[in-house]
Amino acid sequence: MSEYSISPTGEKFPLPSSEDYTNEFERLKEMVSSQRALGREIVVVMGLGFVGAVMAAVVADAEDKQSNPTKFVIGMQRPSTRSYWKTPLLNRGISPVSSEDPEVPLMINRCVNEKKTLIATYTYDALKLADVVVVDVQCDYLKESLGNLQDGRADMVALEESLEIIGQNINPQSLVLIETTVAPGTTEQVAYPIIKKSFRKRGIEKDPILAHSFERVMPGRNYISSIRDFWRVCSGVNEESTQRVVRFLNEVLNTEKFPLTVLDRPIESETAKVVENSFRATLLAFMDEWSLFAEQNGVDLIKVINAIKVRPTHSNMIFPGPGIGGYCLPKDGGLGLWAYRHIHGFEDDIFKITPLAININDTRSLHVAQLTRDALRNMSRPIASAEILVLGASYREDVGDTRYSGSELIVRRLTEMGAELRVHDPYVLHWWEFEKQDEFPSSSHSLKRFFRGQEKLKDLRVEQDLNKALDGIDALILAVRHKHYLNLDPDEVVKSAGGPIAVIDCFGILDDERIRRYFELGCEVKGLGRGHVKRIKDQVKAKREQLLMDISMKTEKQELHLSKKDLELISNGVKLRADD
Ligand SMILES: NC(=O)c1ccc[n+]([C@@H]2O[C@H](COP(=O)([O-])OP(=O)(O)OC[C@H]3O[C@@H](n4cnc5c(N)ncnc54)[C@H](O)[C@@H]3O)[C@@H](O)[C@H]2O)c1
Repeated sequence: MSEYSISPTGEKFPLPSSEDYTNEFERLKEMVSSQRALGREIVVVMGLGFVGAVMAAVVADAEDKQSNPTKFVIGMQRPSTRSYWKTPLLNRGISPVSSEDPEVPLMINRCVNEKKTLIATYTYDALKLADVVVVDVQCDYLKESLGNLQDGRADMVALEESLEIIGQNINPQSLVLIETTVAPGTTEQVAYPIIKKSFRKRGIEKDPILAHSFERVMPGRNYISSIRDFWRVCSGVNEESTQRVVRFLNEVLNTEKFPLTVLDRPIESETAKVVENSFRATLLAFMDEWSLFAEQNGVDLIKVINAIKVRPTHSNMIFPGPGIGGYCLPKDGGLGLWAYRHIHGFEDDIFKITPLAININDTRSLHVAQLTRDALRNMSRPIASAEILVLGASYREDVGDTRYSGSELIVRRLTEMGAELRVHDPYVLHWWEFEKQDEFPSSSHSLKRFFRGQEKLKDLRVEQDLNKALDGIDALILAVRHKHYLNLDPDEVVKSAGGPIAVIDCFGILDDERIRRYFELGCEVKGLGRGHVKRIKDQVKAKREQLLMDISMKTEKQELHLSKKDLELISNGVKLRADD
């Protein structure tokens, strides 16, 4: 029976048979020989994920000064049931990643169907034809417990396997460029020996031409620019490798405007990436305690941050939202800790701040469940029977990437507490972390293992119709700053919900006017770092009390002019209970 790989839109692709492999290599050889005749260099991009798929298109789009394409790119994706679909889709000119950047689908379509400089394949034989191999496979960091980075390890399996296959197949003259974020030391102490040993087995004495240059891609509105028009750091294992990587990057990226930084050794390039992301993770974690302080002391942390940011020295201060997700920030610091012990052999414990920051970030979203519980309690609704809608499944605004998103832990914790969860996200069709939680991200590493009562979440589907999602809910969690959620009208939300609800703002999405309106409509509002909502609530309550006083003091001769909103406020007042 043939196995299938199913695309996010539900299209089924049978995995290739052994016969397909022979035909596929013949197809590639023919294409490569005609592309070489056009003077183009052959680049194989290994791993068509969030980085590789778009990097492949950027390279395929590269042109010389006379506007002639200079590269022919073969995107190489291993044919697993989970990922094979990316290959046939890309061959049709369809992007395997969804994004807010309109240039992504246009560029992929242009390179595949018009310039004919980009194709995808599933066969490792493609490596035999490459002048340059760009490695964009994943290198994970697996955590064994929630909020304890130290109790984890780098998962090098996919990367080591890829390097082994590269060593077995490539022409020794080809450049291998590792773009994967790796544990510092990997290029020289893991990749180099793997490829060197494979070369020796093939009777090749030449040193591998090997370099590292990490990606700073941001899969949002500026997806392409964050690869092509952005500063890069690179380094080779020897002089020849450095020269080759500098030449390649100069040919495919906008290095005239964004010059390369060439470091002496790959470990420096690898460390730059890990420090860059640990720095950002630390900045975000630092705000967690101030966010709690703000909630308990009537402070709006959003306004405080904006007040501080006017100082140019503090302009990169950021509000953390419900936990720090994405593929990189939760893991990259861990790769540093792991490398120190397991690649470089040190026993002492020099890392204090990096693991603490990541541990704080990894558990921050659990506080959202507490806020939801308290908001519902103030409305006399038990969390255990509440219907809760989470707006946003992605880890950040305006992308369809759910990896390690804060929303996942919010859903898991609230489910554990007995609530029924719904999710809406305009960018996410399937939330695989739930739908396939038994095997995603791998069989033993779903975050479900840290919570009880998670089985039913397999049936969680991402709702695309917001009104339908809102219908009949008890609580609404604004989890992600997708543009669709920034201007929701409280009156419309409450109307769609069918009555007052608890609203939890995780990302400073609600301005004071909206917060006030929710209270006037009888809703309860809470937010991460938003202690001032209590003040707004008290003002709304005071206004209502004044109106009631005016009514009770009114003499028969006096006329009282009450607006529709005043009347609503009076009738909703019963729901404006005090916090306990
Ligand atoms: N996603 C980001 O925003 C981002 C930003 C900067 C850096 N990075 C780094 O870039 C690297 C890649 O990240 P990603 O987000 O693209 O990961 P990803 O998981 O989306 O993609 C990796 C791809 O490699 C494929 N793969 C694995 N082994 C393979 C093999 N032997 N042959 C061919 N394909 C193989 C996987 O099937 C997958 O499609 C990581 O190191 C990551 O830390 C990611």
